[in-house]
Amino acid sequence: MKSIQRHAAAHTFYHLAGVPLSGLACGGLACFAARACEPARWRRASGQAPPIYCLGQCYAGPSDTEHDARPTIGCHSRQCVLLDNVLAGGVRELTAYLAGDGGAALAMAQRMAPDELVRLVETSGLRGRGGAGFPAGRKWRAVATQAAPLKYLVVNADEGDPGTFSDRFLLEDDPFCLIEAVLIAAQAVGASRGYLYLRKEYPRAAQVFADALDQARTAGWLGAAFDLELVAGEGSYLCGEETALLNALEGRRPEVRLRPPQITEQGLFGQPTLVHNVETLCTVPWIVRHGAEAYAALGFAQSRGTKLLSLNSLFRRPGLYEVEFGLTLADVVEELGGGLRQGTLKGLMVGGPLAGLVPPALLSTRLDYEEMQAIGCAVGHGGVIAFADDTPLAELAAEVFRFGARESCGKCTPCHLGTPVLAERLQAIAAGQRMDRGDYHALLDALAATSLCGHGRGLAEFAQALERHYPGELQSWFN
Ligand SMILES: Cc1cc2nc3c(=O)[nH]c(=O)nc-3n(C[C@H](O)[C@H](O)[C@H](O)COP(=O)(O)O)c2cc1C
Ligand code: SF4
Repeated sequence: MKSIQRHAAAHTFYHLAGVPLSGLACGGLACFAARACEPARWRRASGQAPPIYCLGQCYAGPSDTEHDARPTIGCHSRQCVLLDNVLAGGVRELTAYLAGDGGAALAMAQRMAPDELVRLVETSGLRGRGGAGFPAGRKWRAVATQAAPLKYLVVNADEGDPGTFSDRFLLEDDPFCLIEAVLIAAQAVGASRGYLYLRKEYPRAAQVFADALDQARTAGWLGAAFDLELVAGEGSYLCGEETALLNALEGRRPEVRLRPPQITEQGLFGQPTLVHNVETLCTVPWIVRHGAEAYAALGFAQSRGTKLLSLNSLFRRPGLYEVEFGLTLADVVEELGGGLRQGTLKGLMVGGPLAGLVPPALLSTRLDYEEMQAIGCAVGHGGVIAFADDTPLAELAAEVFRFGARESCGKCTPCHLGTPVLAERLQAIAAGQRMDRGDYHALLDALAATSLCGHGRGLAEFAQALERHYPGELQSWFN
């Protein structure tokens, strides 16, 4: 595993630099949602220094590093695009991977022209699964058409959204699918070097993936035309934002970069760079093997294909599920999750803390990028955290803003200085005080209008969605 030579100023940015993970309890939002199930463990998590968000064990929250069990895993799509090897319990030997369908897509891709591969991904309708839902084919074309002697491919395995653990299981159980996908994408866009940036909180994924890279190198998959290195993070949610991630890989302080230039033109070390999420890439071998039309036949409206959903421990059947876009959130709650195991549903946080809270009255909304956006929420990376009626919204919002304040990269003043103020005010409301509505809106408006990245903007949108969807409860917040 590669360690980065960091500038001294960069080192202080990280929360877990030099911190052993053993004995830590998770302070992520899924564990907060389930705090009543194990109050002592949650108290340990919330009083812990440094706090840790999140261990990717949201199916067993409140969780810690000493207890982990395998979650329920299920495929509810007409075609299982992503989870076959995960359902089989994991394929961590290259020989076993090749004995199944593994490697067939790479062999097919090697007989195709790069442009054919780009067109294939364009036609499939695949959109980035890291959160933004940007069309993957458009990014591939933007990098492929750059004339540069060196291009990079970066895998974003930071999976920072509390409540998500899908990338974790793809990395731990299907590492060769990801390596195969990276090789195909590199061929399509002309990249010769690659990095996988993995969050520190996933030590098993690091171990499995490092071993898979060794096997892939020995087999000649990596090394000559393209090489891929694993880089472990040191505890920073913001490093999942792609430009911060590139700065982290360069050993610089991982602040968000201004755009333009787009990273497809000037990304890592100033070279054209393709950045993709783990799940996005893991879809590619299936598309190559089965064709773009077969993939595009799955899903709904402009959201084609399948999506992994991570359901938290408040559901009766928490776990990792592959579904087609287009099912309703009510189906997610009832058919996949089996309803809540305690309390009644107060709201669903889909796609992480930057993506709003869906009230029960809107559960007929479909899992679709555009339908979710229309209600002020998002598909995000597919984390689904159920909150029960034991969670007052002020407590939830204070928790979200504390997380937001801690993880701000510090580049924009309303995010750097405004989010801690908002966290404090929300905490005061949770303790029974009231605040001035105008002041609150002024802080949120500044955050929404001036944030350079989706972190500050997302926090503001989260708060605005709460006000829109829960006007009755929020009435009691204000003077
Ligand atoms: C604050 C913030 C955190 C993010 N964290 C992640 C992350 O942990 N993993 C991820 O894949 N994308 C994350 N993203 C999205 C990335 O910036 C980027 O859009 C994504 O890696 C592109 O890959 P995709 O096209 O496959 O989605 C984050 C974005 C923001 C604004
Ligand atoms: S919005 Fe926050 S996290 Fe994003 S660039 Fe500005 S300060 Fe950094």
